[in-house]
Parts: sequence; C-alpha cells; structure tokens
Amino acid sequence: MSKVILITGSNKGIGFGSAKALLEQAPEFKTIILTARDPSLGESARQALGHLDRTDFIKLEVLSETDFIKLDVVSKSDIQAAASFVQSKYGHLDVLVNNAGWAMKGSAFNLEIVQRTFATNFYGLKDMCEAFLPIMSPNGHIINISSSAGVTPILNNSDLASRFLDPNLTEEGVVALAEEFTKYVGEGTWKDHGWPTWGYAVSKNLVNSYSRVLHRDLKARGMNIRVNTVHPGLVRTDMAGPEAELSLEEGCVVPVQVIRDESDVSGKFWRDGNHFDYY
Ligand SMILES: NC(=O)c1ccc[n+]([C@@H]2O[C@H](COP(=O)([O-])OP(=O)(O)OC[C@H]3O[C@@H](n4cnc5c(N)ncnc54)[C@H](OP(=O)(O)O)[C@@H]3O)[C@@H](O)[C@H]2O)c1
Repeated sequence: MSKVILITGSNKGIGFGSAKALLEQAPEFKTIILTARDPSLGESARQALGHLDRTDFIKLEVLSETDFIKLDVVSKSDIQAAASFVQSKYGHLDVLVNNAGWAMKGSAFNLEIVQRTFATNFYGLKDMCEAFLPIMSPNGHIINISSSAGVTPILNNSDLASRFLDPNLTEEGVVALAEEFTKYVGEGTWKDHGWPTWGYAVSKNLVNSYSRVLHRDLKARGMNIRVNTVHPGLVRTDMAGPEAELSLEEGCVVPVQVIRDESDVSGKFWRDGNHFDYY
C-alpha cells in the first residue's frame, strides 16, 4: 500500500533523520511530505534527500518521493493551508508525525519561555491534530514526538501527576492544566502550587495527556485512527547538543519503528522499542 506521511519540523534533527530513514528503508511510503517554518531550510533539506527519491527506471515509475510545505505550527493559517494542500493534492494523509519542538537552552525560566514552549510543543501539536484529523485515512496514525520528560514522575508531585493521568480528563481539561501553569508562572506562584520550574517537561506531559485523551475519544467515536507518543532517546541534535547519547541515525530508530508499525497499538507511550501505558 502506498502511504502519504507528513512530518513537522523536518528541515533538521529527528524530523529530517526520520524522513531520510523512511526514504531509505520504507517503500510503503510513496510520499514523504517534509515541512519547515523557513521555506529555504525546508527546500535545502529536500534537496539533501533528493538523491534518495526512489524510481524504478525499468517501469519509469516513481516509487517514493518527497514533497515540501512551509509550515510553522504556531501559525493557524499555515496549518490550515497545509491541510488544504494535502487534501487537494493527495486526498488524504496516512501518517502525521508531530515532531516540531522547541526547548530553551540552559536553565532560564520565565513566562515568555513557557508561552513559547507551549505554543510549539503543545498548542501547535494540538492544532495540527485538529486540522488534519478530518483528512486522515480511516486507519491513519498520529505520532506525537514526546520525551522522557513527558512522564508524570518528572513533575515530582503525586497530586499533579494524578490530574495528568486522570482517566476522565478531557481535551478542555488538558488545556486547563496548560493555562493553570501559565497563570501561576505569570504570578510567580508556580512553586507554591506544586508545579516544577521546567516548562519543557510540563509541555511534554501535556502532549502525553492530550494524546491519551485523543486516542480514547477517537476510539469512543468508533474511529480507527491511532494516536501514539514516542520518546526518541537523547539524541545529538541542535536541541539536545553534542553530548547526547545517541547519534541522529540511532535516535530515529524508535520514531521510524512506530511510524512503520502496522499493529493496532494505540494510546501508548513508546520508548526503547517498547510501548507503555502512560505513567
Ligand atoms: N534530541 C533529543 O534528545 C530529544 C529527546 C526527546 C524528545 N525530543 C523531541 O524530538 C523532537 C525533535 O527535536 P530535535 O532534537 O530533532 O530538535 P531540533 O534539531 O532542534 O529540531 C527541531 C525541529 O522543530 C522545528 N520547529 C521548532 N519550532 C517550530 C515551529 N514553530 N513550527 C515548525 N517547526 C518548528 C525546528 O525548525 P527550525 O530549524 O526552524 O528551528 C526543527 O526543524 C522535538 O519535539 C523534541 O522535543 C528530542
């Protein structure tokens, strides 16, 4: 079956590395749509992959190829334009990889940093899911790139953890958690209310909770679209720096494993090649 996949933030890092690995290894993907907020960076990435585009020269048939869309996940108009483009050109999307992410380097922490982190990592990812769900194929797969920082023990607060893991949590409830943390950071009272001084970790906990709730709600509506999250490992990219444990190729192994997974596993957090209930 020839599938269409879109990866956000694929001009570099894990998004780019995963696209490259798919072109090399995954013939089931006919079209790999790269996206980047800076079109020139995105086109350079596409050119870098160009020699990997696969053609069967005997049949003169393109087996797999790349496409490119400018996409800043903080821009609702970019997101809507991307969804419209995919619908009109391909009719549907099989796999959506919400990979774009941002983390403040160092330990600086303030309201502006939290807002920027949440805008990309949580709200942008949520807007992407909402815009693309109507054009996902019936057995489509949404893969949200999370982090080992996205599990509740990181929050170091069991009451807060149980709110993130609440089986009755709704999408609105996840947004309310994001708004609560942002409000307390603005007031300077987040520690008094038991929240950590780490916007990135809270953003990835929001991603995990949102993904769990989305999976549950789609299933309740009788839909077969799968939703999983992935911790790629600690990978030597611009975000994690040169001291991280894994090379880019190694860090794309689990994301590519989940992207290619055709089982019915959904609503899980993948790390180290295995999948877990959210914790
Ligand atoms: N590296 C690790 O060890 C590690 C560990 C756990 C999880 N992760 C997660 O893996 C994902 C990829 O990270 P990475 O390590 O590959 O980082 P990276 O090399 O810094 O790449 C991040 C990508 O996201 C893009 N991006 C940032 N803000 C965006 C926006 N508003 N709209 C669209 N794209 C945007 C960046 O584009 P620009 O080039 O324009 O900035 C870049 O393409 C992130 O979600 C990250 O949280 C990484």
